[in-house]
Amino acid sequence: MQKLVSTPIYYVNDVPHLGHAYTTFIADMLTKYHTLQGHEVFFLTGTDEHGQKIALSAQKHDLSPFEYASKISAHFREQWDFFNIPYNHFIRTTDSAHVAVVQRAFETMLEQGDIYKGTYRGSYCVSCESFVASHARCPDCQRETSVLEEESYFFKLSKYQQSLLDFYAQNPQAILPTSRAPEVLRFIEQGLHDLSITRTSFEWGIKLPPTCQDPRHVIYVWLDALLNYVSALGYPNGEKMGHFNHAIHVVGKDILRFHAIYWPAFLMSLKLPLFKHLCVHGWWTIEGVKMSKSIGNVISAQDIAEQYGKDTLRYFLLREVPLGQDGDFSIEALLRRSNADLSNTLGNLVQRLSGMAWRYFEGRIESTQVLHHYAQDYAILNALFESLDTSMQAMQPHKYLEDLWKVFEGANALIAREEPWKMTNLEQIMALLGLIATLLAKAAYYLYPVIPQSACKLADILGLKLEAGAFAHLQENPFLGSFVIQKAPPLFPRLEPPKSATPKTSVSQMVSLKDFQKLEIRVGQVVGVEKLQESDKLLLLRVDFGDRVRVILSGIAKHYDPKTLEGQQICALVNLEPRKMLGVLSEGMVLSAGDGENLSLIAPLTSMKNGSVIS
Ligand code: ME8
Ligand code: MG
Repeated sequence: MQKLVSTPIYYVNDVPHLGHAYTTFIADMLTKYHTLQGHEVFFLTGTDEHGQKIALSAQKHDLSPFEYASKISAHFREQWDFFNIPYNHFIRTTDSAHVAVVQRAFETMLEQGDIYKGTYRGSYCVSCESFVASHARCPDCQRETSVLEEESYFFKLSKYQQSLLDFYAQNPQAILPTSRAPEVLRFIEQGLHDLSITRTSFEWGIKLPPTCQDPRHVIYVWLDALLNYVSALGYPNGEKMGHFNHAIHVVGKDILRFHAIYWPAFLMSLKLPLFKHLCVHGWWTIEGVKMSKSIGNVISAQDIAEQYGKDTLRYFLLREVPLGQDGDFSIEALLRRSNADLSNTLGNLVQRLSGMAWRYFEGRIESTQVLHHYAQDYAILNALFESLDTSMQAMQPHKYLEDLWKVFEGANALIAREEPWKMTNLEQIMALLGLIATLLAKAAYYLYPVIPQSACKLADILGLKLEAGAFAHLQENPFLGSFVIQKAPPLFPRLEPPKSATPKTSVSQMVSLKDFQKLEIRVGQVVGVEKLQESDKLLLLRVDFGDRVRVILSGIAKHYDPKTLEGQQICALVNLEPRKMLGVLSEGMVLSAGDGENLSLIAPLTSMKNGSVIS
C-alpha cells in the first residue's frame, strides 16, 4: 500500500535543535517500520518559509527573507543528512510548484463558496502565527500579541464543525496517542469561528491567485504551510497523490490544533481524503522548561550525537518517554539508559553469542536442533514479538522497545540458567546458540526503525540483509541456516559522563578573592510569587532589594509552595547577566542549597535590611 509519512515543515527563523530532531526521528522510524512491512512509503519533510515571523527574523539579520530562508533551510537539510535520514522530498514553501498549488487550492475553496471577504479584528501572535481573538498574551505561548484590524478573506471553518466531529467519532484512531484527542474535541465543541486566511499588513507570503485581482493580500502562512502535504505529492493530479490516501502526519502538541481542526476542514473543502493518523508527541524540556530558541535553552541534536552516537540519541528519545508526554532531557539520563539497555542488555547478549560460538565452534552456528532442546523457551521468547506491531500502530515506541527488550532480557536469563560453560553436550550448546541467533535475527528487523545503524551492524554480524522481502520470509522460516558469526567490536561501548561533570560534592577549582568580589550577592525580600503556565519547575519571584524590585525566575516550583515564600528574605546573585526565559527577563539568581534530593533557599539568620551585601 502507498503511504505518506510527514514531519511538520519547520520554520526557518532558527536552526534545528533536539526538538526538531525528535519529530524527524519519529517520522523516520515510522517510514522504516512501514517499509519493512512491505508498504511503499513517501517520507516528506521541509521548511516553512513565509510569514511575518520569518520576515522579522530576516530583517534582524540584514538579509532578504528569501536569502535568510535559504540559509536556514540548508541547515535543516544538512541536519537530516548528518543523521542519515533519507527523505523522499524536501519541500520549501518558496518553491514555485508549491506556490502554484496554494493559489490553485485557494481558487478551489472560493469556487466551493468557502471563502468570503471581511475584516479581521482581534489579536495575533507572531511567534505562533496564530489569530488569538482578543488576548494581551497568546494563550499557547504566553507571549505578547499585537492587535490587528485589517481587511481579510475568511475561510468558513464554522461550516465544517459538525463534519469534523463526525470524522473524529468515526475514526477514533485519527489522533494518536488517543489521549490527545479530547482536547481537540473540546475545542471544536466550544464552537468554531471562521478563520482569517489572508493578511495585508506585510508582503512576505504567497499572493492571491491573479484571478482574484486583489494584490494587497498574502495568504495566511498556516494555509500555505499545511498545503505542503499535498503540493509535495503533485496536487491535484500528480502520480504521487495515491500516497495521500494513507497519510500519517507527525507533529508536536504545539501545532495539534492547526493539524486537527484547520487541516481536515481545508481537506474537506478541497474534497480530498482526510489523514489516517495525526501522531502527536510532547515536548522535550530542559529542567522543566520547553526547549526553544526564543527561551535560549536549546540543545543541538548533532552535538549530542557526535559525542554519544546517533543511535544512542534516537534510542533514548524514543524509549525514555511515552510518545505524547513531555520529557526532560539530560545527559545523565541518556547515559543511564544507554548503558543499561544498549551496552549491558543487548550489547552483552551479542558479545556472549559471538564469544561462545568462537570458543566452541569456530564461529559456526546452526539452528537445526533448537526445537529439540529448547522448544518451550523458544515459544515463550518468540511470543514476545507479537505485541510489537500493536504498540507501533498505536504510536507507542517506548512500549514497543520495552517489550522488545524483554526478548534480550529473556535470552540473557536463559544463558544464566543454562550455564553453557558447564555443559558437556555440544549439540545442546549449539541449540542454545541457534536459539539466540534466531531471536536476534528477528530482533534486528524490529530494531532497524529505531537504531538503524546498529541494527545493520547486528544484521551484518549475523550475515543478514535487512529488507522487506527477507523480513516476510523470516516470519515463515524463523530459523537461520548455518552461518559463521562475524567477530565484531562491541556494538555499544559503555558511555562515560563528560569530564567536566565531576561529582558535585568534590572541591572545585580555587578562585581568587578578586574573582569572588566580582559577584554581587544581596539580601532581598520576596514580595510576589507566580507559577508559570509553561513550566512546572520555574517560579517567577518578585524580589525587593531596597533600591528596586527585580523579577527572578527560579527552578524551585517542585520544592516550594508559592504562598509560603511571600514575605521571606532570600539571597540572590544580582549581577548575573539578565536572561530571557519563557518571554520573561530574569534579573538574577536566587541562591539555594541542594543535596540531589532536597533543596533549600538560603536566607540570613536574622532579618536584614533589603539590599544588604553578602561578602
Ligand atoms: O510549527 N520538543 O514549525 P516549528 C519536541 N512551521 N518537539 C519540538 C520542540 C520541543 N521542545 N520544539 C519544536 C511550525 N519541536 C510550523 C509547522 S506544519 C504544516 C508547519 C518540533 O519550527 C515539534 O514537532 O515551530 C513541533 O511541532 C515542531 O518542532 C514545530 O516546529
Ligand atoms: Mg514553533
